[in-house]
Amino acid sequence: MIFETVATGGCRSYLIGCAETCAAALIDPELSQIDRYVALAARDGLHIRYLVDTHTHADHFSATRQLARQLGAPVVMHELSPAPFVDLRLRDGELLVIGRLRLQALHTPGHTRDSMCLVVEDRVFTGDTLLIGSTGRTDLPTGDAGTLHASLFDGLLKLDPALKVYPAHEYKGRSSTTIGQELADNPRLQVRDRSAFIEMMQNLNLTMPTHVTEALRTNMSGGKTVAQMLAEASATVPFMSLVELHARLDGGSSDLLILDVRERDAYEEGHISGARLLPRGQLELRVNQDLTDPTQRIVACCEFGRVSTLATATLRQMGFQGAVALDGGMKAWREAGYAVKAGKDP
Ligand SMILES: [Fe+2]
Repeated sequence: MIFETVATGGCRSYLIGCAETCAAALIDPELSQIDRYVALAARDGLHIRYLVDTHTHADHFSATRQLARQLGAPVVMHELSPAPFVDLRLRDGELLVIGRLRLQALHTPGHTRDSMCLVVEDRVFTGDTLLIGSTGRTDLPTGDAGTLHASLFDGLLKLDPALKVYPAHEYKGRSSTTIGQELADNPRLQVRDRSAFIEMMQNLNLTMPTHVTEALRTNMSGGKTVAQMLAEASATVPFMSLVELHARLDGGSSDLLILDVRERDAYEEGHISGARLLPRGQLELRVNQDLTDPTQRIVACCEFGRVSTLATATLRQMGFQGAVALDGGMKAWREAGYAVKAGKDP
C-alpha cells in the first residue's frame, strides 16, 4: 500500500494507493491543498479513483466536490450525508475496491449522523469518531453523545487492538496510534458507563470552530467559499502594486482611471486624488453611462483589495480588457503614508 498523510493545521487528509494497480483514494481532502494532493498522487504514480469524506465537516472546507470535477472521480460519503452532490453513498459494512485494496466503511454516528470509519488492511481512518487521546465532539449539528458511545464501545473499539488509528484531526503532531493504545490511554475511553460518558461529553464546553457556518454551508451544499470566489476572480485579472500606482500618479500618468468601488461615505472620507466613485453594488447598472470607453486603462481600488478584485473580474467579463485591480487597498495605501483626498470631488 502506498500511503501519504497531508496535515493542514490540525486537519489530516490521507492518500492511499494500491502499489500494484496505481488506483488510489483520497480521504478528507481540504480545499486549500488541492494542488498538493494532485501533485502527491502524480509523484507516487497514483490515479485518484475516489474522493471520500468521513463525515460532514464543520471545521474545514472539503475539497471533494472540486476535486471530483477536476479528476472525474466520484465523491463518496455515508448514505446519511445531506450533501446533494455525493455520487456514491456507502452503508455500514460496504467496501470500496481500490485496485487490490479493500476499504470497508463502518457507520459510526455520534460526532455527526453521517460519520463513518474506513478500514483498510492494518489501519482504520476514524474521521472525528476517535482522535488520538480524545474523541470527536458531539455538540455540533447532528451530533449525539449516546450514539457516539455505542459507535465506539459496541463498534470501533471491538476491532483488532493492533489496528493503527489515523484520525481526521491531530493537533500535537503525532502520526498514528492503535485501537489498543487508545483503549488503554485515551482519557475519554476510560469513561465506559453510557450515562457518565454522555454527561462528560455534554459538559466539555468547547468553543465553536472558526468558520463553522461557512463550512457547513459549503460542505452540505457544494457551494463555494468566499475565499474560493476571490481566488477564482484573482485568477482572471492582473494586479498593480501600490508602489507602481503611486509612481505613475507622481509621474503625471494620465491614461489611468482610478475607479474607487467602495461606498460613498468611505470615498468621501478619503480617496486617491483623481479617483472616480462607482460602488461595486452599482457597477453593472452604471457601467454604460460611467465608463464609455472600453479600452480605458482602469485601476479598481477598495478598502482591502478584495471587493476591487471582484469588481475588476466583472469589468473584464464585460469587455474592459484594460481593467486591473490594485494589489492592496486604501487601508494599505494610507498605511504607506500616501496622500488621500477627502470630499465628494475626484
Ligand atoms: Fe468533524
